[in-house]
Amino acid sequence: MTHKILLLNGPNLNMLGTRQPEIYGRETLAHIEQSCQARGQALGLTVDCRQSNSEGVLVDHIQEARQNHQGIIINPAAYSHTSIAILDALLASDLPVIEVHLSNIHKRDAFRHHSYVSKAASGIVCGFGARGYLMAIDAMADILQPQREA
Ligand code: DQA
Repeated sequence: MTHKILLLNGPNLNMLGTRQPEIYGRETLAHIEQSCQARGQALGLTVDCRQSNSEGVLVDHIQEARQNHQGIIINPAAYSHTSIAILDALLASDLPVIEVHLSNIHKRDAFRHHSYVSKAASGIVCGFGARGYLMAIDAMADILQPQREA
């Protein structure tokens, strides 16, 4: 069976490539999404990609994933540090969740050290740049298909 996963990116991540490249790298979100879809395909996963700058729209996507997807990979960006609404939506989804951050949030400003979303996450990848998304795809494949041959 092919599993479908939702790759969800939060505010300002549509600006990847030009946004503070010394922190977030030079890869665009479109390129990251294509790489994730290719990696997913190789692992038997369909990867649906969504990005929004709005908290409510992110909550709507998470609610819809409950019906349509088997797992969620999310970079909630700044909402990681503020959004109980996104945490609650992820907890209600009853799906495995992997949280991704391009930067190592623990090395940065104190207000970035805490993520509400982590409470809903099976695991967290942070500090590996765009590569972190591919690591999350690999981890999600392991969670959803534990018997799969490596
Ligand atoms: C981020 C880290 C957040 O603190 C920040 O607000 C972002 C991106 C990351 O991917 O490193 O927008 O989630």
